[in-house]
Amino acid sequence: MNLYERNQKQRNFFNEKIDSYDQVHQTYMETKKMLAEYLDQDTTKILDLGAGTGLELIHVFELYPNASVTVIDISENMLKKLSKRDFADQVKMICGDFFEIDFGDNYDAVISTSALHHFKPEEKIILYQKILKCLKGNGLFLNCDKVSFSQEEQDYSMDELENNIDDYKHIDTPLTVENEISILEQVGFMNISSHEVDKSNYRLIKARKES
Ligand SMILES: C[S@@+](CC[C@H](N)C(=O)[O-])C[C@H]1O[C@@H](n2cnc3c(N)ncnc32)[C@H](O)[C@@H]1O
Repeated sequence: MNLYERNQKQRNFFNEKIDSYDQVHQTYMETKKMLAEYLDQDTTKILDLGAGTGLELIHVFELYPNASVTVIDISENMLKKLSKRDFADQVKMICGDFFEIDFGDNYDAVISTSALHHFKPEEKIILYQKILKCLKGNGLFLNCDKVSFSQEEQDYSMDELENNIDDYKHIDTPLTVENEISILEQVGFMNISSHEVDKSNYRLIKARKES
């Protein structure tokens, strides 16, 4: 199954999960809050990749009430729920695939949580290049996401993905922190740091376009 087909499966998965999504993800609210807490004080223009129903944006708008946020998400049902939030008029919603949509430019920050752990290393290179390009000079990329504890764990989930060609189930394929950092360095990010969050299998990774 190619990347396009896998992404369409993600779209179907999240469209179908919509009724239970917010309730299930309540346990991740502390993790989602971290994104707002790590933003630069003068942040206004933000891109949120895979914002879903907008849970992390609740805290972003509490701390940055004048923020202008663009969201890219492949699930129309998740975005429909986001459009009912009271900050929705400050959010530009784009329904589509990260690998197909133009990200725009000049963002102070690109944020993402729980949304980027389904891609292979070579796909992440393409994605992170797009993120680097759309940031302004000293812009910040904050990704709070699932990670693998070891290379073996990462390889195991990647094999599971490769071997599940016809009967695709929802398989997470997080990279190790070391591999995440290596890809960020490879595409040109600087000042990269990794931070523990309240979930042991998650990390917040922070990277700048320029030092
Ligand atoms: C687990 S949810 C996270 C939502 C939100 N960030 C949160 O933490 O509650 C992952 C989101 O990423 C979106 N997504 C996954 N793959 C995508 C892709 N290739 N392009 C755009 N959105 C994608 C899904 O539709 C879903 O809304």
